[in-house]
Amino acid sequence: MIKSLKIAMLAAGLAGLSLTAYAAGTPSVELGKKLFNDLALGGATGTKTCASCHPNGKGVENAWKNPNLAKQINTCIVGALKGKPLPLESVEMKSLVLYHQSLKPVTSR
Ligand code: HEC
Repeated sequence: MIKSLKIAMLAAGLAGLSLTAYAAGTPSVELGKKLFNDLALGGATGTKTCASCHPNGKGVENAWKNPNLAKQINTCIVGALKGKPLPLESVEMKSLVLYHQSLKPVTSR
């Protein structure tokens, strides 16, 4: 009884950690969405986020078709946000790509 309670508490603790785990962890749509709305993406110091020009992903719904999506994302990070490009293999970039893929319209799946 007490033992299973401990396990339950441990599991809850791990779930709580999942938010902070992203820096080292697994790419996710949630993180991508967060970064898409992050003023400091790519070390940018301006007043724009990706969502400033693409609110809720407007205008990038078909970006999932782009075989060079990560490069396009970096183009906007550098050109529009005045940030530094993200390493293509980083958790951040992979998460942004996942977020763009999640915007794929249901009808064209
Ligand atoms: C200042 C406005 C602006 C901001 C901020 C901006 N973009 Fe863009 N973005 C554009 C414009 C304009 C285009 C289309 C023309 C082009 O490709 O240059 C575009 C195109 C794109 C495309 C290609 C869409 C397609 O159909 O292939 C992607 C992906 C994209 N942006 C992602 C991002 C991401 C990610 C960010 C944040 C790092 C961002 N954009 C920030 C203006 C912006």
